[in-house]
Amino acid sequence: MTDLLVLGSGIAGLSAAIRAAEAGLDVTVLTKGALANTATSYAQGGVAAALAEPDSPALHRTDTLVAGVGLCDPDAVDVLVEQGPERVLELMALGANFDRAAIDGELELAREGGHSLARVVHAGGDATGAEIERALVAAMRELEVDARERWFTVDLVVEGGTVVGVEAIAPDGSAHRIRARHVLLATGGAGQLFAVTTNPPVSTGDGIAMAYRAGAALADVEFMQFHPTALDVAAMPRPLLSEALRGDGAILRDEHGAAFMAEEHPLADLAPRDVVARAITRRLVERNLAHLFLDATTIDDFAARFPTVDGAARAAGLDPAVDLLPIAPAAHYLSGGVCTDLDGATTLPGLWACGEVACSGVHGANRLASNSLLDGLVFAPRAVEAILDGRDGPLERGVLRGVLGRSGTAAAPVTAVAAIGRATLQRAMTAGAGVLRDASSLGVLDATLPHDVAASTPAEHEVRNLVTVARTLVAAALARTESRGTHTRLDHPESDPAFRGRLVQVRGAEPFLAPLPVPVETP
Ligand code: SIN
Repeated sequence: MTDLLVLGSGIAGLSAAIRAAEAGLDVTVLTKGALANTATSYAQGGVAAALAEPDSPALHRTDTLVAGVGLCDPDAVDVLVEQGPERVLELMALGANFDRAAIDGELELAREGGHSLARVVHAGGDATGAEIERALVAAMRELEVDARERWFTVDLVVEGGTVVGVEAIAPDGSAHRIRARHVLLATGGAGQLFAVTTNPPVSTGDGIAMAYRAGAALADVEFMQFHPTALDVAAMPRPLLSEALRGDGAILRDEHGAAFMAEEHPLADLAPRDVVARAITRRLVERNLAHLFLDATTIDDFAARFPTVDGAARAAGLDPAVDLLPIAPAAHYLSGGVCTDLDGATTLPGLWACGEVACSGVHGANRLASNSLLDGLVFAPRAVEAILDGRDGPLERGVLRGVLGRSGTAAAPVTAVAAIGRATLQRAMTAGAGVLRDASSLGVLDATLPHDVAASTPAEHEVRNLVTVARTLVAAALARTESRGTHTRLDHPESDPAFRGRLVQVRGAEPFLAPLPVPVETP
């Protein structure tokens, strides 16, 4: 039996595996693809952290709370912004090379939407995630962690209310039960719910679905964040045009070439991501357009600063130095997920979660740009520390006070065999639960999506997991009859203070609102 079974090999999973192996725990990592086939590898912008004056954790805190539109857990945000800088320095010590100024060798800091100043470290220009993944994989290999590629985890094994391992399919198709003292979900997000996404094909919500089937609580699943500027070409995943482009002076233009963000928000093109995605989507719908444009022609040395974006643009026959780049929003990041405390403990003993699969409340209703890599970097080692401290479950504090004791019923085996393909599901979710939603569009999904589907191969299990997450997203989006952050209800356009809480779902019960632990300031 392994001490810690880590599911997933992005920044959260590998940070946890490294910390645990360094502490002498027996660690096994299972990942369903190749080690570096993760959403982390795709991340462009970078890691936000208050590393140099005049920045401070307090400023970073304020920006995070504002972006989260009254729904961030302030304690979680404190953890993120105060421990973030040290974790970034540790990552550099581990071997991650961030970009530095040629003149003085200082770290180069970029600005992105919702940030009041430049605080985002990046690598290889806009290839930050790939560099972090490279460094973490190398460090983990040096520690000789048992890392198994192309192992698909099907479900959690629960005995007497405690998670004790997983059922998994090995690369040769054989079925295995792997027992573990602790299981850590680091399986990432669920962008593949939508027809247009920046997420790789592996982002199918597996950890969220498994946790839900096992009876763990989920929270805030309605808050799927859409990145405003994905390049509107046929490629999938859609190439991302990093927000750092707008930090470096790029501006959004409509179909007539007019800049429009100044009329939407005081920060104009650097408004928080939900504001920008909504502003674009409204124009696309009202004017029946496929895309608007990002004008990055004023950025000097474009190919050197943004090589990934440059390559994607050129592959589409566009030269960012002279051409306007066609853009449209794309599903990008799930702010909700498996409900955890500040140490990654879920509502099920033995089960931990960190990174995009988790919902600690740190992102509220809309994640601040470049806080996602930081989330994995900060919260994954905390789960390991809690395990090393001898904990096996959640502490009854914070938002979990209102959630513990309401564990769901474990899933019954699928009896009704419903068939739905990934593409059909994605089209339906895009039509009904995209940037702009209402009771009618969500109601169509509620009435037509299957409740479960039978599966035996990994590809079928991925669709099954997407269906499970789609159902929970739709249920939460129907229940939250207000607009807030990345959840825009056209039939309830205003925010409602009554909804200042975490919408929690456990299997076998209606979504319920768990109040936030302390009154949340909106700076
Ligand atoms: C970007 O580079 O725009 C993406 C960064 C993020 O998702 O935080």
